[in-house]
Amino acid sequence: MQHSLADADHRYLWHPFTQMKQWVAEEPVIIEAGQGAVLRDVTGKEYIDANSSIWTNLHGHRHPKITQAIKDQLDRIAHSSFLGLSNVPAIELAERLSKLTGLPRVFYSDDGSTAMEVAIKMTLQYWQHRNQPHRKKFIAFTDAYHGDTIGAVSIGGIQLFHQTFQPLTFEVLRAGNIAELKKLLSDEIAGVCIEPLIQGAAGMRLWPSGMLRAVRQLCSHTLLIADEVMTGFGRTGKMFACEHEGVKPDLMAVAKGITGGYLPLAATLATEEIFNAFLGEYTEFKTFFHGHSYTGNQLGCAAALANLQVFEDENVLKKLQAKIGDLQSRLAMCRRLPGVVDARQCGFIGAIEVGPYRVEEQMGVKICRLMSERGVLTRPIGNVIVIMPPYCITGEQLDKIFDALAQSLVTIIT
Ligand SMILES: Cc1ncc(COP(=O)(O)O)c(C=O)c1O
Repeated sequence: MQHSLADADHRYLWHPFTQMKQWVAEEPVIIEAGQGAVLRDVTGKEYIDANSSIWTNLHGHRHPKITQAIKDQLDRIAHSSFLGLSNVPAIELAERLSKLTGLPRVFYSDDGSTAMEVAIKMTLQYWQHRNQPHRKKFIAFTDAYHGDTIGAVSIGGIQLFHQTFQPLTFEVLRAGNIAELKKLLSDEIAGVCIEPLIQGAAGMRLWPSGMLRAVRQLCSHTLLIADEVMTGFGRTGKMFACEHEGVKPDLMAVAKGITGGYLPLAATLATEEIFNAFLGEYTEFKTFFHGHSYTGNQLGCAAALANLQVFEDENVLKKLQAKIGDLQSRLAMCRRLPGVVDARQCGFIGAIEVGPYRVEEQMGVKICRLMSERGVLTRPIGNVIVIMPPYCITGEQLDKIFDALAQSLVTIIT
């Protein structure tokens, strides 16, 4: 089976963020099943899902409550349009999300990129309704990553991913730190976008403590857009990263972990003030003209409700604190391994940096390939190996991840 599937994969597929010439020269890992923190491929080989299936999974694969909620919802209906109609799980989820974040209005979309796209468009239109149409520029940070749709690419600042598409993008002002942000702020600025506490795709780079609070203070006359796509739903140790610095953004984008990693769903949360600016007579056309076919999808919303229920029923955030400590001690040991120049952490995100190696050397890729052979799956960001497991991971499984990393480093670097 592996061979015919691999052949068909090589013949018909085009994978994301993947050099397909290299891909077709290698045997793919084809996942067939998962349980808890473990994935199993079609040959029966098991792997620990050490990056939570690209930062989405929280409580493990096939969690009985999430699985059951999706099945129950499927027995009622999978999807009906959200344009001109509403539905039960979408309403219930909106209430839960708004109470959790303190942002009362929930606009659904499908993934992190679209949640940011919505935030950008809402921001621009908001200022038009507020009779300040000159506020149309955005500030984002150096090396930011907010997704792959054109608006998200515009605010993104990772050369390797974004420069090709530059002719399609709008101009964005770029700050590297608070001092630069201060200089860029003016009455032309519509909004400031930030990945709170940690920049994910930049290589798990931590902002200095207090940075987010300082950004909030500076953005009193413009809108602050917090991209919690990676950090949301407990990843940093609190439900949302903004809570660490007591920050309430004007808009917040959430996706990835919202369904516990089961289905594509996202939301852009907004203040009542922003929402109110869009109210008017039909003929004023203050409507937010944006939406997707699957906006408010019932299956996704049911999964998200079950995900939030698991947080409550299983005391997930409290239990996670001890695991954050476990991760910390293992990262500390990593600093002594060959080639390691840094091992950093934000909540239940670990990042081990090796090098410096040139991009062409693909050192991160090589290390992850060896780890995969040893039964641990993760995806590097350049020279950074990301260890970001589901919250249900056991101490033994965490040991296995770090043993695989250590052995791989020893094999490749010494
Ligand atoms: C901070 C952040 N924003 C947005 C996105 C884009 O999310 P998606 O891949 O679901 O479109 C990502 C994805 O990694 C992310 O880390």
